[in-house]
Parts: sequence; C-alpha cells; structure tokens
Amino acid sequence: MTRHLLDLNDLGPSGIATVARLAGAASKPLAGASVAMVFEKPSARTRNSTEMAVVDLGGHPVMITDAEVGIDRRETAEDVVRTLACYHRVVAARVNDHQVLERMRSTLGAARIDVGLINLLSDRSHPCQAVADVLTLADEHGGAGALSGRTVTYVGDANNVTVSLAQAMLALGVTIRVAAPKGYQLTSEMVSAIEAFSVDGAVLAQFEDPSEAAVGADALYTDVWVSMGQEAEAEVRRRDLAAYTIDQHLVDLAAPDAIVMHCLPAHRGEEISHDVLEGPSSRVWRQAAHRRTAMRGVLRWIMGED
Ligand code: CP
Ligand code: NVA
Repeated sequence: MTRHLLDLNDLGPSGIATVARLAGAASKPLAGASVAMVFEKPSARTRNSTEMAVVDLGGHPVMITDAEVGIDRRETAEDVVRTLACYHRVVAARVNDHQVLERMRSTLGAARIDVGLINLLSDRSHPCQAVADVLTLADEHGGAGALSGRTVTYVGDANNVTVSLAQAMLALGVTIRVAAPKGYQLTSEMVSAIEAFSVDGAVLAQFEDPSEAAVGADALYTDVWVSMGQEAEAEVRRRDLAAYTIDQHLVDLAAPDAIVMHCLPAHRGEEISHDVLEGPSSRVWRQAAHRRTAMRGVLRWIMGED
C-alpha cells in the first residue's frame, strides 16, 4: 500500500534520514501519474516546490484551491478525498485543522484505496518543511548522517514548524533548544510528540531567555509570530514576542560559523532582523530551494521507495 505522511511520526526517527537520502535519488516513480494539491491556506514555497517536484518525478500536479472544493462546506473532507482518489495517485493538502487529514486517511484506509496522503502544513505540523531543514543543515556539515552532536536553537512562537523541526533534529542526534515566552512555549502534548524522536542522547531543552538558548548553537531558526489563522491575535502576539527577534546580538552569541534559518514567509523587524536575514549567516533561500529537493524525497518515500 502507498504510504501517508501526515506527521513525521509516519516516518519514525529512522525514516527521516531515509527521506533525506531519497531526495538525491534519480527515480521517477510518478511517471504517468498525477498528484492533487489542495490548499485551504495561502502558499508560495509549498505549492511551487511540490508542483515542480511532481514534475521532476515524471508526474502531473493539479493545484486545487479550497474555493473550488470547499472542504466540509461544499462537501465533506471524506467525499473530497474519495473524489480526488478517483483521478490521482497522491493527494496532498494544506489544511486549517489537522483532523481533516486524519479523516482523509481513515477514509482511504476504510475504502482500501491505494492513494498516498501528504500534509502540506496543518495547525499541528509541517513535516515537508522539516525535511528541507534537514537538507539545509546537511549541506553545512557533510550530510544528514553527520549532524549528530550539533545544536539548533529555535526562537519565537513554538508552533507547527517547531514540532516537525524538533522531531527531525532529535531523530538525527541534534539537540534542539526552544526559546519562547510563557504562553508561546511547547505544550506538554507537543513535548511528548517531539521527545519520542530522541536518539543518540539528543535532548529537547526549553528556555525563556533567547540569549541563553543561542549560546554556542550551530543554527538559529525562527518562524512567523502570527501563523495563518491567528490573524485576530496579531497585535497581542507582536507585543508578547517582541523580545524574540533573531538579530545580530543572537547571531554573535551562537557558534562562529552558525547559520540562520527561517521557513518563510519572513517579517523583517519582527521574528528576524533585515540585516540577519540578508547577512552572511542566512541560509533562508537555500532552505527555500530545498523544499523542492525535499519533496522529491517525500514523494519517492510515499511511492514505496526506501
Ligand atoms: N515555508 C512554507 O511552507 O512556505 P509557504 O507557506 O509559502 O508554502
Ligand atoms: N507557522 C506558520 C508557517 C508558515 C509556513 C503558519 O502556520 O502559518
């Protein structure tokens, strides 16, 4: 049966290195097949990288906005996925509520439909982003297998991106520090999901002080303070997170060759300063480019490669 990737839990700790390796393979398992991509929220990187990765693997991508299918408004999520499965080998979706993906997976399983399902970001996780993050770090340190013992510090709102990043890091033996103010830290449920990925003694450490968390880190990572769907909280979030900007002060505290990462979109002057985003430590554009490389690995794994 085709695989699904709703969370990195579907890959497990050992599967992360597998997908990173498959990103560099040459196979075209989607020849003659198509992939549906449904977006309930906006996207620049995920839509374009996925679309081109499908083409790279010999397939045909079909982009579908939520306005067209209306998940749980025009028809149920169950009926949307069953319909798309009539035409496509893989269904990929960016959803507001992670439960929509779980319902789609259950529907495919119950009907014994051999179609893969990929999470292109939900409120809970962003697994495809984490694969690109691994590839970006691997470029700096001689491969994904050589990352063990490194330290990555995430600064800001502990969110969907943080969870997937932290899981991937622990799986590769990388210590992950998360610096966030009270009210924006990882929940106990997120911590459990992350710590299940710990190998090689790598640990998750939580901080309130971003300076303390940045000391000696091999990479500093941030994401927006206001995720999609949180727009009503924008003002209070900007106030509460104001001390959590990755700026030159934090870069100076990190390791001398530390890199700066951001999944993007960036808000210069909020979670990252303009100078750091455009400075010599920044790898954000390489990271964005790796979204396409990463999706090749994800799609090959979905199609059963190891
Ligand atoms: N990083 C990321 O997922 O970007 P988009 O929201 O533009 O797809
Ligand atoms: N945490 C952000 C990530 C954007 C790629 C969001 O969910 O909007």
